Amino acid sequence: MSHPGWQELTFETTQPRVEALEDWLFAQGAVAVTLEDNADEPLLEPGPGETPLWQQVKVVALFNEGIDLDPVIEAVPAELIDTGTPAPAHIPDQDWERAWMDNFHPMQMGERLWICPSWTTPPQPEAVNIILDPGLAFGTGTHPTTAMCLRSLDRYITTGMQVIDFGCGTGILAIAALKLGAQQALAVDNDPQAITATKQNAERNQVASAQLEIALPEDVAWAPIQESADIVVANILAGPLEALAPQLKSLVKSGGRLILAGLLTNQAESLIDAYAPEIELTIEQEIEGWVLLGGKRC
Ligand SMILES: C[S@@+](CC[C@H](N)C(=O)[O-])C[C@H]1O[C@@H](n2cnc3c(N)ncnc32)[C@H](O)[C@@H]1O
Repeated sequence: MSHPGWQELTFETTQPRVEALEDWLFAQGAVAVTLEDNADEPLLEPGPGETPLWQQVKVVALFNEGIDLDPVIEAVPAELIDTGTPAPAHIPDQDWERAWMDNFHPMQMGERLWICPSWTTPPQPEAVNIILDPGLAFGTGTHPTTAMCLRSLDRYITTGMQVIDFGCGTGILAIAALKLGAQQALAVDNDPQAITATKQNAERNQVASAQLEIALPEDVAWAPIQESADIVVANILAGPLEALAPQLKSLVKSGGRLILAGLLTNQAESLIDAYAPEIELTIEQEIEGWVLLGGKRC
């Protein structure tokens, strides 16, 4: 039986008042409350266990169709919201799972590589196809930083390479590197959820377990792999990438390549400085304000 649909009320507020407003809306019968950025303030990537929130927040409450929302609108405590009385928006019911699946399509990354959701048929069966579904870990190829790293790997990976994916998320970069011809990859992440996701995705893509080591940083034997990687790729954030500079530099072998993403254009200069003089990074790609830095170790 189809659902009659929904009504949505949207309020503007600030971070300290969000929880009280959420509680109040649930007490009025909201079936769901979602939070959105109200000031174009990117939160980038939270650390494990962190749930950061924007300063300016849009709070969207979903109610069943048929409920009279006028009393709710009249009673909303003025101290919990910024301004104005919202008008209810009517949302027709739809097959949400279907709608979400329809929006996630196979994506070509560079010349050889495709990222394909599991429910689709790879458009080019002879290409290097990676099967990947959205999950809890970061990295489905839809984010500009992941897309740029994939394009770089597509360009630089040659047969037999040793690759390190530092901050692996779903494992998409390590898996792509192996599928593109690398012989061995190490996928590292400090979030246990990413380790689980990478293991699952490696299995789904029939990656031989002997080819891919997946581990938390503290479980890796770093000493034997100093200066061993043909390519180190790290898509993290500018802050951690700067802090990790000595370690990431030390993993790249002479003549090997470092690929860094997760930073914004205005953060490039200080990162370039942090990796010089051993690695002269330059901006190799730029999408929507995100840049990818690449360079060879001398
Ligand atoms: C932006 S995601 C990138 C995921 C994937 N590699 C991609 O390109 O889509 C960054 C990942 O780095 C991990 N990370 C952040 N800081 C880290 C650190 N200091 N050491 C290891 N992993 C880290 C996060 O847990 C997250 O999974």
